[in-house]
Amino acid sequence: MTMGTQFVPQEAEEIMSTPELNAGVKSAPLRSMLFVPGDSERKLEKSISSPADALILDLEDAVAPSRTHIARGMVLEYLKSRPDRSRQKLWVRINPLTTPAALLDLMVVAGAPDGLMLPKVFSAQDVTKLSHFLDALEVREGVPQGSIRIMPVATETPAALFTLGGYAGCSPRLAGLTWGAEDIAAALGASTNRRPNGEYDTVYQLARALCLTGAVAADVQPIDTIWSNFSDPTGLEADSQFARRSGFTGKIAIHPNQVEIINQAFSPSAEEVVWSQRVVDVFASNPGLGTVGLEGKMLDMPHLKQAQRILELAARFPQ
Ligand code: COA
Ligand code: MG
Repeated sequence: MTMGTQFVPQEAEEIMSTPELNAGVKSAPLRSMLFVPGDSERKLEKSISSPADALILDLEDAVAPSRTHIARGMVLEYLKSRPDRSRQKLWVRINPLTTPAALLDLMVVAGAPDGLMLPKVFSAQDVTKLSHFLDALEVREGVPQGSIRIMPVATETPAALFTLGGYAGCSPRLAGLTWGAEDIAAALGASTNRRPNGEYDTVYQLARALCLTGAVAADVQPIDTIWSNFSDPTGLEADSQFARRSGFTGKIAIHPNQVEIINQAFSPSAEEVVWSQRVVDVFASNPGLGTVGLEGKMLDMPHLKQAQRILELAARFPQ
């Protein structure tokens, strides 16, 4: 914000602190990413009709280790069977880079996944390392160079929490950061990650906040974690709205029924679109002015950027 020493009325403060100011949404925002266990023929089949902006075909925790090798083959076939990614991106969650399984998982590069989700990272160095592997594998498999993006699950190890400010510039493949509250709880030896009132405990709220700020600092999408109770649409909706208000630009789903709710929550509402158009118009009709008033509210450059971003998002995802 370029406020100088100006007095900032309460209302203007409120508008300015709205989430869309962050730089997370760029060319291909992913509102919803649906996890699909990589070894489930039925769920892979079902996911084709899902309106999720992306699927995450899982080779990690949703697959029993005894079936990982089966899942790899199934995921590769699935990727090859769906070469058109214009409606839906196909991501794969591989195993952590600390395990040999991760390297075997990279056979899926031959199916040209749109991105790889990397769990249990320690820092941005893991992204850089995977990026180098992909530099080589893309050439070997004849996949367009640099096409496979990377999204770390950036809060699953205790060490990772101290490195979340370090993702800027780690790789042009970096598409976003997401977070999880389960694996870090296990790593900490915690028997719960919740307070008695149901809220996340401090460590997990910190993980969420650092994921959000780390992603925005790196100019990539902050993607919110799962809502695990898939038979609670009301809770999911409230959680998604809260995430968007905080600045997250998308959220992970674990069940097909969650996808529409998430898409809705992360798409601009009709009122937001109308207001944003008015903001853009008022600046257009006052060329040379950095600050204008509209309905008693002060608007400056951050508002214009925010309005433009909402209109871009609305054009991409019409309601
Ligand atoms: N992707 C695609 N299809 C899915 C799905 C998913 N993630 N979850 C459920 N379905 C399908 C089911 O196969 C079922 O279809 P069918 O009736 O044609 O068989 C339908 O949706 C309804 O499923 P439901 O009976 O409500 O759920 P379930 O008990 O079969 O499965 C889970 C519940 C949680 C096991 C399942 O949703 C799941 O596997 N989620 C993903 C888990 C995951 O990947 N976790 C890793 C990250 S945390
Ligand atoms: Mg996990």
